[in-house]
Amino acid sequence: MAQQGWAELYGWQLDRRSRTPLSRQLYMQVRAGVLAGALAPGTKLPSSRAMAMRLKLARASVVAAYEQLLAEGYIEGRAGSGTYVSNDLAGRIARPSRLRIVRKARPLPGAAQAFAEFAQSTAQADVRPFNTGRTLVDARTVDVWRKLTHRAARSLGPDDLGYTDPCGLIALRRSICDYLRTARAVRCEPEQIVVTGGTQHAIDIAIRVLLAPGDEVWVEDPGYFMTHRQLLLANMRLRPVAVDAQGIRIEAGLRAAPKARAAFVTPSHQFPTGVQLSMARRLELLAWARESGAYVVEDDYVSEFRYSGPPLASLQGLDEDERVIYVGTLNKALFPGLRLGYAVVPHALLPAFVSARYLLDRQPPSLYQAVAAEFLAEGHFAAHIRRMRALYREQRDALTQTLIRRAGGHLQVDVPDQGMHLIAYLKNGASDMQIEEEAKRAGIVLRAMSRFYRRAEPRPALMLGFSGFPRTLIVPAAAKLAAIVAAAVPRKRVSRPAARNR
Ligand SMILES: Cc1ncc(COP(=O)(O)O)c(C=O)c1O
Repeated sequence: MAQQGWAELYGWQLDRRSRTPLSRQLYMQVRAGVLAGALAPGTKLPSSRAMAMRLKLARASVVAAYEQLLAEGYIEGRAGSGTYVSNDLAGRIARPSRLRIVRKARPLPGAAQAFAEFAQSTAQADVRPFNTGRTLVDARTVDVWRKLTHRAARSLGPDDLGYTDPCGLIALRRSICDYLRTARAVRCEPEQIVVTGGTQHAIDIAIRVLLAPGDEVWVEDPGYFMTHRQLLLANMRLRPVAVDAQGIRIEAGLRAAPKARAAFVTPSHQFPTGVQLSMARRLELLAWARESGAYVVEDDYVSEFRYSGPPLASLQGLDEDERVIYVGTLNKALFPGLRLGYAVVPHALLPAFVSARYLLDRQPPSLYQAVAAEFLAEGHFAAHIRRMRALYREQRDALTQTLIRRAGGHLQVDVPDQGMHLIAYLKNGASDMQIEEEAKRAGIVLRAMSRFYRRAEPRPALMLGFSGFPRTLIVPAAAKLAAIVAAAVPRKRVSRPAARNR
């Protein structure tokens, strides 16, 4: 594709003290730029008139240089369009090798190595069932979103195009505040809402303002690997606290690390098990935070999608002492590419939180904030959640039913009443890691639960995302997975008559 315009920005220079004729200098400069890859094939060169004016050179000298380059095949003329770096050279110019040499010669800094090791885990772009964290967006939402985007783009004023409030657009913060008060029983004022790029971003800021390197921190075990990683990369000391059917075991945390400075928890839908933190444990957690001066970071990532029973109130709503930073996201309720989320920040922490945000990336992007603000204020968000809830419930049921019908003897499927994934526990001693590998070979993406444990004894299970895939994809993929699970059961445990009955 023609790369218009870039050559206008090239640092053309002539050395008038040199004995090399100016026309020759220009020729050599274009040639060197082409051979070094700085002037890529297809790049449009300035016209001879523009080049002559820019370099204060006789036009005939430019024409002479261009003719020489033309004769040697470096550039080509296109009738009525101009002069371009020759497209015939595409793919033939060797890439400069300097970068490779530098990379080999010097070891990476320790921090760069630690981040790079995590790179292979950044796989959420995989579109195959049953990858987690994926969402569907129906035609209605696409249509409304498109219209609101056009409208917002048309009405962006000079204020929106400059530096804006690092906390986010006030209209959006008001809507988020109303939503959180009503749907999640969060105690908040619009001033406490800081619009972020999502959960990751909010947790990063929380780590910066709450903790110093070396601080002890409670994390759930099993728990959310992204948060664990963020904490480890910030040099915190992780204190994994076991999770049971009532959520994180506060008494175990108190025994292991009573002086921890913070706890990072998912009380409404524990990641990955899906259990809810019981009321007794909620109160114990808040009492510990109050008495020890610690903070709790509540990641409420998926409460929008609740399939039965009344919506659960947030932990933050029970907090009388402002010890909880509540973190939510629109990236799951709408779509991950949106990159908008929010934190509800205790008043005392607000100045630090906002400053940290400002230092990291200044502010959220104006356009998508404006679109999201309208989307919420006009009631489209509530309607979208209602439609998606029904859709995701159907997808959950399709996955559950297929797994139970085809591999019920080998799996105990936990049917979640909330969220975007389910957990199927392996009953017959099969290895979840082995099934993960085999499923991958068959084109199915799943996560072995063993991966999420740090110290607690892993309970082998499969984590399967159902939100991102239509029923028509889920049913055959689940049938294929059921066959893989059945085949993975260790032989000695399968009795002959049972095998024959199948
Ligand atoms: C536990 C948990 N929290 C939060 C998120 C959402 O993160 P973000 O808002 O950065 O996209 C996810 C997504 O997978 C998650 O699993």
